[in-house]
Amino acid sequence: MALRPVLEAKRLTLQSQLDSTKTLAERNKLGQFPTPTLLATEMLEYARALLPPTARIRFLDPAFGTGSFYSALLKCFAARRIAAAVGYEIDPHYAQATIDLWRGQALDLRLMDFTHATAPASNADKFNLLICNPPYVRHHHLTQVAKAHLLQAVQRATGLKLNGLTG
Ligand SMILES: C[S@@+](CC[C@H](N)C(=O)[O-])C[C@H]1O[C@@H](n2cnc3c(N)ncnc32)[C@H](O)[C@@H]1O
Repeated sequence: MALRPVLEAKRLTLQSQLDSTKTLAERNKLGQFPTPTLLATEMLEYARALLPPTARIRFLDPAFGTGSFYSALLKCFAARRIAAAVGYEIDPHYAQATIDLWRGQALDLRLMDFTHATAPASNADKFNLLICNPPYVRHHHLTQVAKAHLLQAVQRATGLKLNGLTG
């Protein structure tokens, strides 16, 4: 059997194990709800249809979880087309086991808050495939410091001044 389906089966088992040790209320704080395999695959198939057939892929998932989209990327794109794959995951509970799961693959998984990541400076380092099931975190789960940081970042990027009650 090819390696990717084995890793996807292991990932689904790992996802259930990791989810089962947290309550729904705990998972709600960081928006920890995984994307089903079929949906992730359909999204990557759609992305493949949009991209030029020879384009090399620089993939980014800023809210990685156990890597449903990364797994779908490996399913939908030949390895030779994947130039880079980067993920961010804030919660060590998910990140550490996930790093172990994907060890041996060309994945750069960073255990950090993506809202503090700096964008690549050069065009060559930028991403052309950003896929994410974002953490829909309610404002009352954000600290005052995090809120201030996010409001400033939104204002810098868009010019919009959002309300402090924004999720
Ligand atoms: C909706 S889940 C999606 C996980 C996975 N990509 C999927 O689709 O199955 C969002 C993930 O983002 C993580 N997360 C939440 N806030 C984050 C942040 N500020 N930086 C990085 N990861 C974050 C959560 O721990 C969770 O694993």
